[in-house]
Amino acid sequence: MDLQRNPAGAPGPDGRHSGCHSGSDPGPGGTGPPIGQTAMSDGEFARLSAKVLALTGIELPPHKRQLVISRLRKRLRALGIDGFGNYLAYLASPAGEAESSEMVNAVTTNQTAFFRERHHFEDLAQILARRPGDAGGRPRRRIWSAACSTGEEPYSIAITALGAGLAGPGADLRILATDLDTAALARARAATYPAGRADACPPECRQGYFETLPGGQVRVAASARRLITFNQLNLHGSWPVQGPFDAIFCRNVLIYFSPEAKLSIVERFVDLLHPGGTLYLGHSEAMLGNHPQLVNQGRTIFRKCA
Ligand SMILES: C[S@@+](CC[C@H](N)C(=O)[O-])C[C@H]1O[C@@H](n2cnc3c(N)ncnc32)[C@H](O)[C@@H]1O
Repeated sequence: MDLQRNPAGAPGPDGRHSGCHSGSDPGPGGTGPPIGQTAMSDGEFARLSAKVLALTGIELPPHKRQLVISRLRKRLRALGIDGFGNYLAYLASPAGEAESSEMVNAVTTNQTAFFRERHHFEDLAQILARRPGDAGGRPRRRIWSAACSTGEEPYSIAITALGAGLAGPGADLRILATDLDTAALARARAATYPAGRADACPPECRQGYFETLPGGQVRVAASARRLITFNQLNLHGSWPVQGPFDAIFCRNVLIYFSPEAKLSIVERFVDLLHPGGTLYLGHSEAMLGNHPQLVNQGRTIFRKCA
């Protein structure tokens, strides 16, 4: 018998009813499970953090405990599981195998925006335009968005390339967009956003690259969508990707990893870049130290030595 799975309302294995047992605030209208604090002991947090680290490379320092609780509480509710001890037991059981992916989706931070750090896209347009053709042929341009979240980053890359006239008919430009989070990837593939999200684009990019849907949402135009391949990829695992790349975007994810993991991932990026290729990191990821093959261009832009 699976003691961890506990239909809402049924008593848990410890005789308690499902829901949050240490909270005091009831759900909307006073019905349904309470939405207050669900306690997580030090030991439970340590076990969960170790699991997240092993699966994703993400470090969860003690001050993140409340954030983790609030994100995972939804999973406990969805499963009708009472308490994090039971959730951990469920994760470790054969029945809970698929839950690891849901847990990872819940703990990852997906914050992103179109044209976030716009100077990176200005730099990208320049380096892509400089790319020479191969032996009498057209230039082959490859870009990897390595933690693409809900898609705004790779679509910004696509719109940049189209706007610079580098990705129209006959051009050989492809964008690989990967993330660990399957729910974020599903949203990225859908390419559909609340209308206000597109306001972050430079004015010249708002025209022509978005279609307005009935209901007011916007969808990225097919011309940009067709340039991108979305795949799940764990930066903390093996990378089934084919380089070399002209540019790799890996922004606002390395901050969650240990210094050793960061360095090893950057090493692997360097191996996958063309000579002269560019690595774009997030604004708080400047402290890479000196890499013998990367020249710091400022503003977290790193060029591989030619
Ligand atoms: C804050 S978002 C950054 C999105 C985008 N790069 C940007 O800067 O706007 C971080 C992304 O990294 C992803 N991520 C976290 N750990 C990962 C891992 N081990 N492998 C691949 N992606 C990971 C998360 O799912 C999330 O979508």
